[in-house]
Amino acid sequence: MAMWAGRFQKEVDEKVNDFNSSISFDSRMYRHDILGSIAHATMLEEQNIISPADRDAIVDGLNGILSDIEEGHLLFDPTAEDIHMFVEAELTRRIGDAGKRLHTARSRNDQVALDIRLYLRDEVKEILSLTKELIRVICDMAQAHTETIMPGYTHLQRAQPITFAQHLLAYGFMLLRDVERLNDAYKRLNFCPLGCGALAGTTYPINRKRTASLLLFDGPVLNSLDGVSDRDFCVELCSAIAIEMMHLSRFSEEIILWCSWEFKFLELDDAFATGSSIMPQKKNPDVAELVRGKTGRVYGDLMTLLSMMKSLPLAYNKDMQEDKEAIFDAVDTVKLCLKTFAPMLGTAKVLKDNMYAAAAKGFINATDCADYLTKKGVPFRDAYKITGELVAYCIEHGKTLETLSLEEYREKSDVFSEDIYNAIDLKTCAFTRNSLGGPAKEQTEMQLKAIREAL
Ligand code: ARG
Repeated sequence: MAMWAGRFQKEVDEKVNDFNSSISFDSRMYRHDILGSIAHATMLEEQNIISPADRDAIVDGLNGILSDIEEGHLLFDPTAEDIHMFVEAELTRRIGDAGKRLHTARSRNDQVALDIRLYLRDEVKEILSLTKELIRVICDMAQAHTETIMPGYTHLQRAQPITFAQHLLAYGFMLLRDVERLNDAYKRLNFCPLGCGALAGTTYPINRKRTASLLLFDGPVLNSLDGVSDRDFCVELCSAIAIEMMHLSRFSEEIILWCSWEFKFLELDDAFATGSSIMPQKKNPDVAELVRGKTGRVYGDLMTLLSMMKSLPLAYNKDMQEDKEAIFDAVDTVKLCLKTFAPMLGTAKVLKDNMYAAAAKGFINATDCADYLTKKGVPFRDAYKITGELVAYCIEHGKTLETLSLEEYREKSDVFSEDIYNAIDLKTCAFTRNSLGGPAKEQTEMQLKAIREAL
């Protein structure tokens, strides 16, 4: 019979037991469940709610369970209702009556809310360190490519020349904001619901501040109903992860494009690409594609959490058991992606010459040609029109702005002189864009410094 079977006349139907059980996915919180229980028992004894002998038996018993699970001597019982019931039953089996005293002044509702928070705290720390590692890879790569010219795009059409460093650092800043969002989610996550009981606290003289501090929380949750029914922290963390995945998927999409023969800006290391079972010539960017694909499942996790919580009355409802698979999946997925993405990027070969060749096509210095005229007194709209005509002329005659003769330039405007060639040189175009945040070297150094300092 179940531990709560006092008022029941029948054994629960096997189908209901299977349906109800969460041990298959919440067993991963075993360590956090045990640490929470040790803190609870410690506080109970300090408050004279249980005896020192019971406290010692509970703490020793729980530590024994912990090491037995970790060493593979104790396996989870798949028919247990959840990890909380499993640990408590095992403890009682080992130490008898003292084990039955552990759940005094506690409910599974505050227990599970505690366990998820403890579990996610560790996960956030890991995601943060993996994200920072990726930012470091990006910064090192950017440092090596402050003078690598590539076309910058809008509408996926070549637009203006930039450096590869500038492009990479855009992702550096996105990921830095992800770090901030994760830190922010952590701040609100880090409050302790233990002692909220089933929903209405308890009549026992417990010390919630003590358990919160034993478990290194910033403090206890201040409303007992809120403590057991809040899953904002899951939604918020999942949303931060979803945004991070969005960034990774944009980056992946570009890597996939850059690896195509149409671009050939990047070549992945053999260890981070895969072949085709039928086409011998293929080298596929599977890792980047999977990261792009897995972004969808994390968005799904976020929708699961939001929809699951929508309209739930206070306080705890069993619907909330569905939080775990969603948030665990989001956390697992982003970690998996970051672990593979960072070394894939870090080992990729940058094909600078191809980037330059692509930048040399597509008239991406046309803005600079117009700016040249403007700086010599031609109103910008007129300069824009003259340059547009020059581009049309080039297309018609198979030329580029670099290969037009001075005579051809001067046919459109006598303001042109020899210095036009320097003005439209791709390097000049990229390196003289020294406005704050631009691709000029000074600006790249500023960006690198800003990111590194923030890390
Ligand atoms: N396995 C449950 C969950 O994850 C634990 C809390 C059960 N509480 C209850 N009142 N049945 O939500």
